[in-house]
Formats: sequence, structure tokens, C-alpha cells
Amino acid sequence: MGYLAAKVGKVPNFEIAYGYSFEKVCLYAQSRGIGTVMLAASLSRAAFEKAMALKDGEVMPVASPVGYPAEKKSIRESLMRKGLKADDRKPFDQLFFEGDFSQPLPQADPYAKALEMARWAPSAGNAQPWRAVVDGDSVHFYEAKSMKDSPLGDIQKVDVGIALAHFDMTLEEEGVKGTYGFSDPGIPAPENTHYIVTFRRA
Ligand SMILES: Cc1cc2nc3c(=O)[nH]c(=O)nc-3n(C[C@H](O)[C@H](O)[C@H](O)COP(=O)(O)O)c2cc1C
Repeated sequence: MGYLAAKVGKVPNFEIAYGYSFEKVCLYAQSRGIGTVMLAASLSRAAFEKAMALKDGEVMPVASPVGYPAEKKSIRESLMRKGLKADDRKPFDQLFFEGDFSQPLPQADPYAKALEMARWAPSAGNAQPWRAVVDGDSVHFYEAKSMKDSPLGDIQKVDVGIALAHFDMTLEEEGVKGTYGFSDPGIPAPENTHYIVTFRRA
């Protein structure tokens, strides 16, 4: 077993870019039969940061073990997974909306498959902080923030970046082209839910 780690400069939205990129590496490993799991809390952070030679203004939000998955889970892992409901995800209609946050997105929407793939993304504490409002050709992504920021930044933005990787890779597979940009549509959002980014079909 080895470890995969990456550091990043604290530029605006670094967490989103970091989650997006790190997840793509994890999915590639997975495609080769290699297991990964991002760890933000359960690692000897000081030792990793020393090995990564972090400079001022840089952070290492997560690291991941890489190796061939054991055939059988340990009792500790099984119990932890049960506690986090790690095999489950929130229902589609509680995450994705049409027009504003009051109407669930119909499953027949053209973006439904890509959002379904986003729904299955991994997240810290399995909190699944991603939300999206589809408005015609645009998909506005939001973060439903339930954890406090740490000096490492906002770990739940890393989660949103991971979900965006799933969304984006699915669109790529479907041949849907478009661009990402920051243009908050000003849709009233639930408490602690913040606008992140918009995808717009070309
Ligand atoms: C950003 C991030 C940080 C995480 N940190 C930890 C951690 O510190 N310890 C841990 O056991 N799991 C950690 N996880 C794994 C999640 O608990 C796991 O992804 C979630 O429960 C869903 O399970 P699954 O990835 O097997 O589908 C983290 C996942 C992400 C995306």
C-alpha cells in the first residue's frame, strides 16, 4: 500500500479545483482495480505535511491510501460505514431542483443522469453538501454547508468539487459540451446554502 497526496495554494476556490482533480485521479485508480479513500481527519497530518514540504500559503486538504482493496472489511470499518450510512446517499429530489429550491428536478431532465452520478460522489462524513438548481440550459451548483471551516479551508467545497468531477465526466461521456462560470442567479437559497458555480450547455 502507498499513499497519494497533493498540495495546493490557497487561491480563490482552491478547494473546488482540488476536489475535482483529486477525484479524477481516484477514479482512474479505481478503473485499474486500485482502491482509494480520501482522508481529511483520519491521517497523521503533521507527518504528511512534512513529507509534502508544504510552503506558506499551501495546504494539503486530503491524502488517500492506494492499494488493492481487502476482500473482507474489518469490523471497525463495517461499524464506521454503518454509522455514516456510507453505502447510502440522500434522495435525488432532496438535492436537485428546477427553477428554484422549491421544485424537485424531474428524473426525465436532460441533466438527470449527470446529477445522479454527482449524487453518488464520496464526501467528508458522507454529508453530501452538493445541491443544484437546473434552469433551462444552466445548472447552478450550491454548497449546503454543515461543517465549520478549518485552517485547511472548507472541506465541503472539496466535496462539491468531487461531485462536479462526476457531473462533468458524465457530460463528457454523453458528448454534452458547455462552460463553467461564476454568475450567481440570485435564487433564494435555504439557510447555509451558498452559490458555487454554474454550468451552461454550449
Ligand atoms: C473530502 C473527504 C474527506 C474524508 N475524510 C475521511 C476521514 O478523515 N476518515 C474516513 O474514515 N473517511 C473519510 N472520508 C470518506 C467518507 O467517509 C466516505 O467517502 C463516505 O462515507 C461515503 O463512502 P464511500 O466513499 O465508500 O461511498 C472522506 C471523504 C472525503 C470526500
